[in-house]
Amino acid sequence: MANTLLEVKNLIKTYDREEFFSTKKFLALDGISFCAGENTSESFSVIGSSGCGKTTLAKIIAGLIEFDFGEVKFFGKNIKSYAPREFASMTQMVFQNPYASLNPKLKIKSSFLEAFYGAQKDEAYKIIEDTLKKTGLDAGILDKYPHQFSGGQRQRIAIARSLLKKPKLIIADEPFASLDVYSQNMITDIFSDIRKNFGISIMLITHDISIAKRFAQRMIVMDGGKIVADGNYDDIAGAKENKYIYDLISAMEL
Ligand SMILES: Nc1ncnc2c1ncn2[C@@H]1O[C@H](COP(=O)(O)OP(=O)(O)OP(=O)(O)O)[C@@H](O)[C@H]1O
Ligand SMILES: [Mg+2]
Repeated sequence: MANTLLEVKNLIKTYDREEFFSTKKFLALDGISFCAGENTSESFSVIGSSGCGKTTLAKIIAGLIEFDFGEVKFFGKNIKSYAPREFASMTQMVFQNPYASLNPKLKIKSSFLEAFYGAQKDEAYKIIEDTLKKTGLDAGILDKYPHQFSGGQRQRIAIARSLLKKPKLIIADEPFASLDVYSQNMITDIFSDIRKNFGISIMLITHDISIAKRFAQRMIVMDGGKIVADGNYDDIAGAKENKYIYDLISAMEL
């Protein structure tokens, strides 16, 4: 549908795995289907244990890796039929390690300007100024290097950078795994503000159900390459016949 941000249909992804004398196929995504952002921006989390396929799913949606079967559409159009430039403005990824998007050798200003390709500098500065304001950052950060910030601040700056291309969807893959609880909450709240202030949808990947609950109502739970529940907390809690969900909910109820 042309007014639906994201449609994922029956996605299958295998990886080649080297065994002793042969290569075997490993099924990482086993028929993933869901939609997000119908008519309006939407934030949701994707929860699942290590190795269940979260990062694989994120990278496919962001167009970073290929898949075997299925379909991914933005606004009703297959991602494979987008021109690269046009697709780049659909989605941005925020990684666990902010250095994935902030070059340690560059001042923040240069890292930010890189996001604009050949755009006019005046216009770029205007967007940067506006983005800093809306993410609660001071213009003074622009003349500093990434190492001059704390881990939480650095991630906040990486998030601000991801906004510069005005994407429709930000995919944040465990963006606070190495941060303390205070910074985790700060980052979660920044994402909530981004949805309100910029109208951008956010897909937050985490294995922490309390973070997911604080972040957004909708949670998609993955297990072994499949979606095993999709809905609000009560819907998830109602799917306890799945062992992983049982463990998740039991941990919350302790
Ligand atoms: N490039 C690759 N080659 C082979 N196997 C891979 C590759 N990337 C991922 N895998 C395997 O695919 C499965 C899914 O990996 P993925 O990174 O998507 O999991 P994840 O849910 O993000 O895990 P985590 O919570 O640890 O980040 C894992 O078993 C992983 O070992
Ligand atoms: Mg991962």
